[in-house]
Amino acid sequence: MVKIAPSILAADFLHLEKEVRLVNDHADLLHFDVMDGCLVPNLSFGFPVLEAVAKVAAIPLDVHLMIVNPDKYIERFAAAGASYISFHLEAADEAGKDAEEYIDLAKSCGVKAGLAIDPDVPVERLFPYIPKADFFLVMSVFAGFGGQKFIPESINRIAALRAEMERIGTVKDIEVDGGVSASNSKALTDAGATMLVAGSSVFKAEDPAAAIAAMRL
Ligand code: DX5
Ligand code: ZN
Repeated sequence: MVKIAPSILAADFLHLEKEVRLVNDHADLLHFDVMDGCLVPNLSFGFPVLEAVAKVAAIPLDVHLMIVNPDKYIERFAAAGASYISFHLEAADEAGKDAEEYIDLAKSCGVKAGLAIDPDVPVERLFPYIPKADFFLVMSVFAGFGGQKFIPESINRIAALRAEMERIGTVKDIEVDGGVSASNSKALTDAGATMLVAGSSVFKAEDPAAAIAAMRL
């Protein structure tokens, strides 16, 4: 069954505890976007906020690191309560490293290791890592901001990744993030996505529980 991961980037920060409790009984994961102003042109939040959220979250925390040099921080995010940690292939490129280093590090910290790419990175670049990472995050907007418009070509990218997984006989989770709502959730899961991140469509909805349920149809 598909896992729904509301992104707290779209939550009301003045009432974060209330927002987390609102989705606790309905969602499968809680998505936590960390931005550093370097890999992406925006800043968000870090350890103290994650630790606070971990106190009230009843579902696993899915930390999406949109930062350069994620290897410096993976261990601390694991200690702060993350169960899933994804980092960008672009960050490995910038550092002149192989993303496998980050994958191994995350796994050694006892979390699920996810490899993410922005929409302008060829999806084929993920293929060599299929046997290595636990999950793959295909961005369906350019990382950095919530509330952007879904890029339809993402559906083909997910299908291509899924087809390659099936071809080699190693099927892993595929997460999609950006502009996801009940209007495209079926097309995404049909293409092979197994984890749907949704910020605005959940937290800006009048009834977040209903918005989550609608994405499972
Ligand atoms: C964007 C973040 C997303 C964001 C999604 O860089 O990675 O997780 O919160 O927000 P929506 O669902 O509003 O596009
Ligand atoms: Zn995200």
